[in-house]
Amino acid sequence: MASRSASRALRSSLKQLSAPAVQRRTFVSALNAAKAGVAVAPKVAVSGPVQQIRGIKTVDFAGSKETVYERADWPREKLLNYFKDDTLALIGYGSQGHGQGLNLRDNGLNVIVGVRKNGASWKEAQQDGWVPGTNLFDINEAISKGTIIMNLLSDAAQSETWPAIKPQLTKGKTLYFSHGFSPVFKDQTKVEVPTDIDVILVAPKGSGRTVRTLFREGRGINSSIAVYQDVTGKAEEKAVALGVAVGSGYLYKTTFEKEVYSDLYGERGCLMGGIHGMFLAQYEVLRERGHSPSEAFNETVEEATQSLYPLIGANGMDYMYAACSTTARRGAIDWSKRFKETLKPVFNDLYDSVKNGTETKLTLDYASRPDYREAFEKEMQEIRDLEIWRAGKAVRSLRPENAQ
Ligand SMILES: NC(=O)c1ccc[n+]([C@@H]2O[C@H](COP(=O)([O-])OP(=O)(O)OC[C@H]3O[C@@H](n4cnc5c(N)ncnc54)[C@H](OP(=O)(O)O)[C@@H]3O)[C@@H](O)[C@H]2O)c1
Repeated sequence: MASRSASRALRSSLKQLSAPAVQRRTFVSALNAAKAGVAVAPKVAVSGPVQQIRGIKTVDFAGSKETVYERADWPREKLLNYFKDDTLALIGYGSQGHGQGLNLRDNGLNVIVGVRKNGASWKEAQQDGWVPGTNLFDINEAISKGTIIMNLLSDAAQSETWPAIKPQLTKGKTLYFSHGFSPVFKDQTKVEVPTDIDVILVAPKGSGRTVRTLFREGRGINSSIAVYQDVTGKAEEKAVALGVAVGSGYLYKTTFEKEVYSDLYGERGCLMGGIHGMFLAQYEVLRERGHSPSEAFNETVEEATQSLYPLIGANGMDYMYAACSTTARRGAIDWSKRFKETLKPVFNDLYDSVKNGTETKLTLDYASRPDYREAFEKEMQEIRDLEIWRAGKAVRSLRPENAQ
């Protein structure tokens, strides 16, 4: 793949990536048109697939119309007014608790944090400026003060603490999750929600750290929203408002089931597990065929993460293909079909394993082990010790920003 023409194409496309959006579209159009042999006029802003009515967009996603809510429809004053009688009790202060909690606080909403007093989160919350007795409480005390209970404990802890939490979720309160896990897999988690309260979900599509950094940059993360139970007739509106309040930019409507199935499936597949498996398989074959660790790493991970994947992220797969050499392009398009055919049955097995609850059982069993943290660290050490990732550490050390 490392042909000169490919490198030239990549350099030029990287330049395009730093160009304004309209210019970038023109570049892709030019590439497409060049392939089709037609001249291109510069494009004006895209408006075709988007229809907007009072801040709610209906977007045509490849032929399928979906409702997307946006932050622009919920300015700060409207949020403050909407939640003026509410106390948001955010239970748990891990990655999401930190990001969502600080964003709510910066938005000026009446938010309190509830965590166990002897845990690491209690200290972390204090470091972030939450004050014991003022806006930082023990879990039960926070729930008793809250009108909207945002359950951001770890998924395993949601199940473990449910017998204590459930009786406190009295009529008039709202229960909020950031993952459909607990109620959807209630047979295993035992999280059977009371029937007289609204139950809603806002699931940011990213780490809580990103929820926070995007908010601070004046942008917003994409989130899914869903309603599990609507007793007030206002559940969806509340989910949208909360989604904006915690730092979302755009909110995509889904169901609790679809959110949890796609999330568990995606992270086990292309987002994390599948991609790690592909990296390992490709690297091992290169090493077994006599290639050096640096060559195997560069051709498997470094070029992917540093050069090609950002191109896909910025402008799509055709853009990445168009930015590569004819040689690379031809082979990659042909082999993609074989990989798809080979891998699709594995992805179907994975979806079954998510939907039938097997993945939930494995997760709950793992998280309830008393030696859970030690077992996790042992696995991380095994990954760190793999030759591929040791080689990667050496490759990264040569990057200009890491050079001594
Ligand atoms: N992380 C993400 O990228 C992400 C993205 C989207 C959605 N979500 C969802 O957001 C929710 C929260 O996830 P997270 O990653 O932010 O949290 P997490 O790191 O998994 O857990 C956070 C909290 O759980 C508490 N906790 C753990 N065991 C407990 C127990 N037995 N009793 C009381 N508290 C306990 C911890 O308190 P201590 O410090 O006291 O142990 C900590 O405050 C989950 O539903 C998750 O699926 C996460």
